[in-house]
Amino acid sequence: MKRILITETPNYIGGKVKVSGWVNVVRSHGKILFIDLRDGSGILQVVFLPQEADLYNLVKEVKPEWVVGIVGEVVKRPANMVNPKIPTGQIELVAKELKVLSKAETPPFAIDTDGYEINEEKRMQYRYLDLRRERMQRNLKMRHKVIQFMRDFLTKERFIEIETPILTKSTPEGARDFIVPSRLQPGTFFALPQSPQQYKQLLQVAGFERYFQIARCFRDEDPRADRQAEFTQLDLEMSFVDREDVMEINEKMLIEIVKRLFPTKQIQQIPFPKITHQEAMEKYGTDRPDLRSDLSNNNLLAFCWVTDFPFFEKGEGSGWTFTHNPFSAPKPEYMDDLLKQKNISKILTTQYDIVLNGAEIGGGSIRNHRPEALEAVFEIMGYKKDRIKKNFGHMLQAFKYGAPPHGGIAYGLERFLSVLLQEPNIREVIAFPKTGDSKDLMMDAPAEVDPKQLKELQIQLSAKAPGKFIKKAKIQKKK
Ligand code: AMO
Repeated sequence: MKRILITETPNYIGGKVKVSGWVNVVRSHGKILFIDLRDGSGILQVVFLPQEADLYNLVKEVKPEWVVGIVGEVVKRPANMVNPKIPTGQIELVAKELKVLSKAETPPFAIDTDGYEINEEKRMQYRYLDLRRERMQRNLKMRHKVIQFMRDFLTKERFIEIETPILTKSTPEGARDFIVPSRLQPGTFFALPQSPQQYKQLLQVAGFERYFQIARCFRDEDPRADRQAEFTQLDLEMSFVDREDVMEINEKMLIEIVKRLFPTKQIQQIPFPKITHQEAMEKYGTDRPDLRSDLSNNNLLAFCWVTDFPFFEKGEGSGWTFTHNPFSAPKPEYMDDLLKQKNISKILTTQYDIVLNGAEIGGGSIRNHRPEALEAVFEIMGYKKDRIKKNFGHMLQAFKYGAPPHGGIAYGLERFLSVLLQEPNIREVIAFPKTGDSKDLMMDAPAEVDPKQLKELQIQLSAKAPGKFIKKAKIQKKK
């Protein structure tokens, strides 16, 4: 018999069906035993009557989280037993057969709660159990829906999705890179992308006028509630646009996502308010102001654009560094100053950040598509000609072959989702996140590698590294 989904059972009243899933709860009511069976689609009440003696005795053994298949008859519940809260609340399954597909040990924590009360490390160690809870199922399903919506929306708007490499060269985005040693070119390293910034710009040079990607990004930063070493961006880039064009299409997408997928939410102001960086700092003391007029209203979404950021700020030494993105263009009226490298502190960039309820959920800019302007940015930052050539030669070269004016944006997908789903930490919207000290406790990563692997890569660990392989090597030497 073919298995059907639990949500489909109400279509089979009076009929015989087979369902499979996890035992959510086993309950007894007088002599009658009940299992609440859970599958990916929902929950179903299954009834076991004492008359079916063999079956009845078997069910007595069954524990929560066992995986079972049940054949039974779908019947209407008596009126006083109807549960209007669940889609199968009108019916129940009277069991005729039960097959244990897999037994389960007692889980290390409750999975029928929202889980906030449970120790984080335990949740991460047994993430596959933690993900069974209703809240996590909802979060990951909504994540899928949002991504699917973005894909459909952008496809309709003539964007195409293009994947860019994970093994690449570092993009200077202000964070530390994760690096990957090359076996074939010993002594050299790839970097994992902090974002697809350079590739998406090169795709504009290549003539893909509207690009997007659900892109994995890697930044070796200390994790925080809104920061993971590995996270996902919706990344997009467009040719022949100005700042307002990019903002407009993105605003349309954000509004549609909320209206279609989060209909109970209310957007405080449409069109989204735009405030300059200076105004934000003066009025709110932050460049990501929370503009909600009522903080007690859980369903209120206050989007705003923040624009007109200073391009440069003083870096650690005496030199200048970029505030957002070295590839950004200045606002047109500051192009002359940029090229002449004067009034540097006054130059404003075309950068626009999108802020939602006080969280920076995305940011982008119009880029410098002329090589001399990009070169001026690096010169202002004190880079010598040979360093510019070594690090960014490929960009400057590409821009010599007819680069269209272009600009784009990237969203921190998890930040956006965590605001929408009212989650306090982006880990709650990631299937397998890292812990507060950037470990994967379930896989036990990062981990030492076999000394053979290191040898192949011609990598020698310093004696200070705490790994057990080094200690072993030393002990062997002593012998
Ligand atoms: P930026 O560095 O501002 O811009 O990143 C874009 C958005 O990504 C999110 N974000 C993060 N989310 C989780 N964990 C992190 N460690 C993390 N770092 C950033 C934020 C941020 O707004 N290439 C440019 C975009 C562009 O100009 O098109 C970029 O990456 O929500």
